[in-house]
Amino acid sequence: MTEKKDTFYITTPIYYPSDVPHLGSAYPTVVCDFIARWHRLHERKTYFLTGTDEHGGGVVPAAEEHGMSPSEWVDHIVPRWKELWERLEISNDDFIRTSEERHKQGVQPFMAKLMESGDVYLGTYEGWYCDRCEEFKGDDELVDGKCPIHDRPVTRLQEENYFFRLSDYNERLLKLYEDRPDFLQPKRAYNEMYSLLKQGLQDQPITRTSLTWGIQSPWNDEHIIYVWIEALQNYITALGYPDGELFGRCWPADVHVIGKEIVRHHAVVWPAMLMSVGLPLPKHVFAHGWLLVGGEKISKSGRGITDISPYELVDEYGLDAYRYQFLRAGSWWEDGNFSLEDMQARYNAELANDLGNLVSRTLNMVERYCEGVVPQPQVIESPEEGLRSAVESAAEEADVLVGDLKVTDAVVRIWEIVRYANRYLVEREPWKLAKDEDNSPLVAGVLAVTAEALTALAALLSPVMPIAMKDLWSRLGFEGDPKLGAASPSGNRVRVGEALFPRIEA
Ligand code: MSP
Repeated sequence: MTEKKDTFYITTPIYYPSDVPHLGSAYPTVVCDFIARWHRLHERKTYFLTGTDEHGGGVVPAAEEHGMSPSEWVDHIVPRWKELWERLEISNDDFIRTSEERHKQGVQPFMAKLMESGDVYLGTYEGWYCDRCEEFKGDDELVDGKCPIHDRPVTRLQEENYFFRLSDYNERLLKLYEDRPDFLQPKRAYNEMYSLLKQGLQDQPITRTSLTWGIQSPWNDEHIIYVWIEALQNYITALGYPDGELFGRCWPADVHVIGKEIVRHHAVVWPAMLMSVGLPLPKHVFAHGWLLVGGEKISKSGRGITDISPYELVDEYGLDAYRYQFLRAGSWWEDGNFSLEDMQARYNAELANDLGNLVSRTLNMVERYCEGVVPQPQVIESPEEGLRSAVESAAEEADVLVGDLKVTDAVVRIWEIVRYANRYLVEREPWKLAKDEDNSPLVAGVLAVTAEALTALAALLSPVMPIAMKDLWSRLGFEGDPKLGAASPSGNRVRVGEALFPRIEA
């Protein structure tokens, strides 16, 4: 199946729909969307998957609280997730819900294969269980007897479970980590998992008997597949595993983007399960940092909860500024703090001033000095060549950075075009040159090359700000969606329009 793979496949984790999405869940979704759009812009076949993990994560208590069954609850709340993704212009190719029949249709043959491989046995488990993590915790993981992630009491559980012989994969996983040091990034996550592997793995419970909400194991009706084991399979069931055509084209995933607290599942348990059933492993697992507000993780579980909803920010600043903020300011590889003050300051300094002024200045000069038509680049001197090559090198380097998942750095690198173009205009002073008729060939050169830079920016920034950049593209006289390597804007009639990013007072 692998020889048919021709598509860059990126996934977000599937979110627990115990509540509506918050800024913290929107963050990785926006970043993955940026990466997917970036690859599509570069004409690479891309498949971008997101979805919801409906058999766990507090769905049952949330349903109870609202007087609904779990299935009524997820049907009620999941549309709110889809709505937000639409509002944020998330371009996912599919949205998998683990309550869907197609998920079950993939999970059951996968589980059957796991059983056939001889890696599953019946045993008894006793341990501390956090019902929010949906996971047993070792004594050493608890803080004051509580789950360190949810700050809630854990319960002592003893159950008959089926187990997966994870310990048998210890050596093969170590070898994977040694042979492919970029399998798991960043280094911090890699080191953590590597030392876990060095300490030695224990077998993994993969079914539960005390639950009813979930997917039954194919070999014993009383056993419900443990939610994590089933949820991980979304990455292939959404592609139509075992024999879907998409599965052949997309698998193995190029990258599973995940938060840093769910690394063990994705970088230890999941690869071992794939090895067991004989499927290729994802090429990369990337564990980003958390978005913090006032120093705490934004989450549904009560700690660090914030009242700011993504909708409020989008209403206040616009969709494009929202996306820009999280792509530019979030530090992605590390934890990063979000604050309204920062968003406000960045909006005015970078969007209203840096980019907004560059656009309005350039379009206004084309209007005033060239009757609204972008001139031919009549005179090209070394400053013009400088701007052209600044655009080219930023575009190339940003592509390498996105390939390395350094999204914030990529946006910063593209922004250097904006800064360079502004400095260039200040240096060239076309508004002064235009006072003398003799300079008109040079003025034409300056405006043509600046419009070329804006054309490139509209394309390069379209994965960040899809609506505003489409608008800029049309103001530059082009039709359709921004494209890389488009024809020169010379000869296009421009439209000045309102400020792209009007200043916002605090
Ligand atoms: N359902 C599991 C994932 C299963 S994937 C097979 C889960 N769900 S979750 O809703 O709790 O979290 C989903 C993702 O959202 C995680 O990767 C988590 O790190 C991310 N985020 C939730 N809050 C976040 C922040 N405040 N900041 C960054 N990411 C955050 O875990």
